[in-house]
Amino acid sequence: MSTDDLTPTAVLSVEDLTLLRDDGVTLVEDLSFELSAGATLGIVGESGSGKSLTLRSVMRILPECVERRGAIRCEARTAMIFQEPATALNPTMRVGDLVARTWRRHHPGCSAKEARAAAADLFERVGIDDAVRRLRAWPHELSGGMRQRVMIAAALATDPDVLLCDEPTTALDVRVQAQILQLLRDLVAERGMAMVFVSHDLAVVASVCSQIMVMRNGRLVEAGPLDHVLAAPEAQYTRDLLAANLARRLADREGVLR
Ligand SMILES: Nc1ncnc2c1ncn2[C@@H]1O[C@H](COP(=O)(O)OP(=O)(O)OP(=O)(O)O)[C@@H](O)[C@H]1O
Ligand SMILES: [Mg+2]
Repeated sequence: MSTDDLTPTAVLSVEDLTLLRDDGVTLVEDLSFELSAGATLGIVGESGSGKSLTLRSVMRILPECVERRGAIRCEARTAMIFQEPATALNPTMRVGDLVARTWRRHHPGCSAKEARAAAADLFERVGIDDAVRRLRAWPHELSGGMRQRVMIAAALATDPDVLLCDEPTTALDVRVQAQILQLLRDLVAERGMAMVFVSHDLAVVASVCSQIMVMRNGRLVEAGPLDHVLAAPEAQYTRDLLAANLARRLADREGVLR
């Protein structure tokens, strides 16, 4: 695909993405989508449908056994937040050093002191209390919610135009999840950042995204404005997914009430 085919505001374009594993299995097939500046796209689908590999394709961090075909055009700076903040953080590095180093890599000429001040600002921005003291914390000293905030701070240190989020709140309790979702909404509104948000949970996707893509077995089932797709799903698979999500929400609520 040539640059001429890109819509003027597109910051990311994926065209006929196909992922083949070295044992001959097709993991993702002919997937195409485009993301404009400031757009928020949710990707939903059952486990193994290819959501994470799609994000990894954009970041160019696919496993070695996976071959990519198709075109990915991304002229924007892109950062990714992973599902499990406990394993994504380097356990031997203080969290402030991680964010300060990331900042320095993306802001050449910046001094160590300036990078440290920037890291403290980012910690405050993502809602880490007592930010300056927390710079010295090790990952294992922080709760899951705090570690996820550190991951978001590290992603923001790269000054991204596109933020890819792979189930960033699945491991967190409902209250912390709500805080992180609010933070992401604020960041999109303030920075005009585009976001791709992967989740099993349609309600979570609905709270942060205006577009949605439904995937199954590596293929696109349907896509469109979130309000339209949820109000009038065309595919039976999307209807089943909605029903399963609703049933789980009701079960969760009963659990809380009991
Ligand atoms: N490192 C890997 N090596 C081999 N196969 C892999 C690897 N990572 C993923 N796969 C396979 O690719 C397919 C898609 O995986 P992917 O992780 O993208 O699914 P997903 O939609 O993110 O699922 P989940 O909701 O469970 O996170 C699956 O069949 C999976 O087994
Ligand atoms: Mg995944």
